[in-house]
Amino acid sequence: MSGFRILLPLAAFFAFTSASAADIAAQMDGCNDCHGDNGVSQWGEIPTIAGIDAFGLADALFMYRGEERPCAESKYRQGDTSRAATTMCAITADLSDDDIEALGDAYSELTFVAAVQDFDAALAEAGAAIHKQQCDKCHSEGGSNVDDEASILSGQWITYLENSFADYLSGARDQDKKMKEKLAALSADDVTALVHFYASQQ
Ligand code: HEC
Ligand code: HEC
Repeated sequence: MSGFRILLPLAAFFAFTSASAADIAAQMDGCNDCHGDNGVSQWGEIPTIAGIDAFGLADALFMYRGEERPCAESKYRQGDTSRAATTMCAITADLSDDDIEALGDAYSELTFVAAVQDFDAALAEAGAAIHKQQCDKCHSEGGSNVDDEASILSGQWITYLENSFADYLSGARDQDKKMKEKLAALSADDVTALVHFYASQQ
């Protein structure tokens, strides 16, 4: 009788964990139809999400779910591309806290692959100097250090980076107070140089 009492909860526990792992894998297939296979994007408007820290990824998803971060409409890039265009806010609307944590963990385990894209070498050099002075404190190693929990800037797509700057500078996207002061002091040319610096790291 006592054996029976122990077995039942165990069976329920294993059934629950395996079902939810399969569920997360199925959700990731949907994510990858925009973010690319293994979370590595082939499309300029869409960030690579593989290999970013789990906290930062989950935090971004919580922000989208709460509509606290602007979410641009996007079409699906692979799989069934006849699906209607949607937004990160709509995609995260029905995710549970556990789903969000699990997605953050799963993508953080994958490997970030820098985008292969054209950049201007002179601008990249100018951007490197600005980065070192203004940004490297929080985005160390050229914006590639995941331990900073400040996303990955190096090797991210130019278009996505430009859109991110635009969202910050318009005030549509909230940001760390210290970063806000730094970004507000940049000229448009400085921003372009920084974007080319991040894109140059391939
Ligand atoms: C229809 C296309 C589409 C789908 C599906 C999609 N995304 Fe996105 N995602 C985007 C676009 C476009 C952006 C960037 C623009 C924006 O912020 O709206 C983005 C941004 C993100 C970011 C922010 C990255 C950063 O560095 O701040 C994360 C994290 C993310 N998506 C995770 C996911 C996860 C997890 C899923 C699946 C549950 C998913 N996305 C499904 C299009 C999509
Ligand atoms: C005081 C620390 C701090 C400083 C200084 C700072 N940042 Fe950030 N930055 C962060 C944090 C934390 C995040 C991630 C949280 C978020 O999404 O706002 C971030 C996010 C970003 C993102 C968005 C990444 C993405 O994919 O979502 C960009 C772009 C960025 N920073 C650029 C810069 C640039 C350029 C500078 C220098 C001019 C700079 N930051 C200085 C802390 C900082």
